[in-house]
Amino acid sequence: MHGGGASWPLRGHEGASRAGRFGNGEMNDLIFTVAIDGPAAAGKGTIARAIAARFGLAHLDTGLLYRAAAAKGGDPVAAARTLTEADLAAPGLRSEAAGEAASRVAAIPEVRAALLDFQRRFARRPGGAVLDGRDIGTVVCPEAEVKLYVTASPEVRAHRRWLEQGGEAAAVLAEVKARDARDAGRAVAPLARAPDALVLDTSAMTVDEAVARAAAAVAAALGR
Ligand code: C5P
Repeated sequence: MHGGGASWPLRGHEGASRAGRFGNGEMNDLIFTVAIDGPAAAGKGTIARAIAARFGLAHLDTGLLYRAAAAKGGDPVAAARTLTEADLAAPGLRSEAAGEAASRVAAIPEVRAALLDFQRRFARRPGGAVLDGRDIGTVVCPEAEVKLYVTASPEVRAHRRWLEQGGEAAAVLAEVKARDARDAGRAVAPLARAPDALVLDTSAMTVDEAVARAAAAVAAALGR
């Protein structure tokens, strides 16, 4: 009924990971960015990890940067400016509460500005990269070679989240809708589909179907 259901893991265990090289053991200098944007719990992370692994690209879950900046406490702008690898490994960053807090600090322009350079450098690093977030194809890397906008109905996204975390279904749906409204309604870098992004509505897709569509777009851009 709800495409994918429990087979849609919303989060992996790594924020940034370096996947393998392109087979011949040589470091390749390919500059190639896959930008994946969309609302919470649409399947961006699952697709991003699969694409990174399949094509040997580095992966950055940019939501983790905002989660870590919010979790550090104190002034969020100072937190964003001084983020370290250790901050990205802080416990509890995957929780819905951390996502909520992230979505609040993400509306502060200075927080976004502080995280921009790191994301841009990551996007254009030699060897290629996949970044997933809200503004990758629109703000962080408008020149990305592949842009995907991964979405699903609020009901399907809430159902997937509920399967993972439990709780009261109506409350989970309300949380999903509230986060959508905040992410799409903020003044700076709101969640938006880049005009040249391929839309993947995963509401009725399995993980395999969604990954296959995304992989086809990446393969076409790579000329494979
Ligand atoms: O994707 P994730 O749920 O981890 O993101 C947490 C919050 O961080 C989002 O709700 C959004 O407000 C913010 N975010 C953002 N821009 C990104 C990634 C995440 O504003 N590129």
